[in-house]
Amino acid sequence: MTIHIGANPEDVADVVLMPGDPYRAKWASETFLTDAVCINEVRGMLGFTGTWNGHRVTIQGSGMGMPSMSIYANELIRDFDVQTLIRIGSCGAMQPDIKLRDIIIAMTATTYGTPSSSIFGDLNYAPCADYNLLSAAVDAAKTLDVGVHVGGIYSSDTFYDERPDLNEQMQRHGILGVEMEAAELYTLAARYGRRALGVMTVSDHLLTKEELPSDQRERSFGDMVEVALKAAFAA
Ligand code: HPA
Repeated sequence: MTIHIGANPEDVADVVLMPGDPYRAKWASETFLTDAVCINEVRGMLGFTGTWNGHRVTIQGSGMGMPSMSIYANELIRDFDVQTLIRIGSCGAMQPDIKLRDIIIAMTATTYGTPSSSIFGDLNYAPCADYNLLSAAVDAAKTLDVGVHVGGIYSSDTFYDERPDLNEQMQRHGILGVEMEAAELYTLAARYGRRALGVMTVSDHLLTKEELPSDQRERSFGDMVEVALKAAFAA
């Protein structure tokens, strides 16, 4: 048990998928896992462990934003010895060739700052994905009927942004999309020698202002979960 995860050490698998929304964790475990049991309800941040194709998997909500992600990832890594952490979530697209429902696989995550910024001082650390996970996720995504984009994303501290000029700079420099958690996950995984990846579904578009209707969100989310599971257990 930790402060935020009320599970026994053996309840958590080596591989953890992390959606921001705890109800997405519930949906994904009911949809993809066999014999899933709820392993965490502290603060309503639901977590479930079950099996996928015979492999044990935990799906644990991370909450929104890097401070929340940092709490869950720190406890999963340091107290539950989790080896592989894959963020599954939504993002806003920042390039014209990206469409709603496409999948973005994040090689790197630019930030204004993360909960880890203070330890880097003047350095601009570049959080990056685990290459083997990334490569396996790209292979898995290409087998699906969905657009796939691989590159840098922006992990922002704000959803309601007062600095559109920063988004413009991101767009000019080829950043694919914006979300709020991956950079800190990558940083923690690097610090503790674990594997991390972010696989995101495009739920809205910053240039066209389109948004995915709620009835299409579930199907798109399913593609992303499948990519994450296949990447986690690729040979
Ligand atoms: N901004 C930040 N996070 C997001 C967005 C966004 O536009 N869409 C989905 N997650």
